[in-house]
Amino acid sequence: MQSVSEIKSLRSQIKAWRAQGLSVAFVPTMGNLHHGHFSLVEKAKNLADKVVVSIFVNPMQFGASEDLDSYPRTLNEDKQGLAELGTDLVFTPNVETIYPNGLAAQSYVDVPQISLGYCGGKRPGHFKGVATVVTKLFNMVQPDIACFGEKDYQQLQVIKTMVRDLSMPIEIVGVPTKREANGLAMSSRNGYLSAKEKETAKVLFQVLNSAVKALQTGDKGFDAIEQQAKQTLVKSGLKPDYFNIAEAVTLKPACNNDQHLVILTAAYLGQVRLIDNMQLTLR
Ligand code: PAJ
Repeated sequence: MQSVSEIKSLRSQIKAWRAQGLSVAFVPTMGNLHHGHFSLVEKAKNLADKVVVSIFVNPMQFGASEDLDSYPRTLNEDKQGLAELGTDLVFTPNVETIYPNGLAAQSYVDVPQISLGYCGGKRPGHFKGVATVVTKLFNMVQPDIACFGEKDYQQLQVIKTMVRDLSMPIEIVGVPTKREANGLAMSSRNGYLSAKEKETAKVLFQVLNSAVKALQTGDKGFDAIEQQAKQTLVKSGLKPDYFNIAEAVTLKPACNNDQHLVILTAAYLGQVRLIDNMQLTLR
């Protein structure tokens, strides 16, 4: 596996692959890789000749009070895991490479409407940071395909919308959420949790499942289902940030006629913010 941190070396390798007619799939990450990330790499391998993974903890998507400084950085282990999976190239730029003019540079990418609620509402500027860095990484790697996890469902929809709106010639592929045996969605932030807290955290998955079941029986009392879910979370020791049923593509609050729904949730366990979601199609 090649490891590069300069844009120039990245571009010359991509150019050489292109000259051989090879296709490229890309998986952007912030590192501290786990099986969720690895499932994206596996998918990318199945879809293209060459796989590029980036590891960059993007300061632009962290709020002032968030965990940028303490975000887990495990570069050596990450590279080892990626090499074992057969990744072709890992791109590990530093902050100056990505933001040569600093974070106050004049140009950015914003996908306003779909970024409004849920995580975007609770973390102002977060998706602007994500859309901007992903655009920059896309311009650097110029992949045919890019894989994103459904675990960050709103992020996936923001990226799909951005690519469509700005005519980026990249196919965005969503990959299902990888979970621990108890249902907890895998996340780099799970490393902040004790074994006992991980047991509490699985309630998020259980509550999502109960809401899915209620919706599948034809229950259209969206507000009541949301309230009930939040109460169960509170009783279990979680502090819900939001729990909402939405139309799966637009992310607008669910209406009676919507068939493809997504339930989006975020909750705090102590200082740790967990997010999860579940999609369902009503017949
Ligand atoms: P990060 O949190 O490192 O996640 C990188 C990718 O892995 C994202 O597409 C995310 O949805 C996916 N992922 C994380 N946990 C997963 C799980 N349990 N199952 C499946 N996929 C999972 O998301 C980011 O980084 C950043 O916002 C980024 C897109 C890299 C821009 O900075």
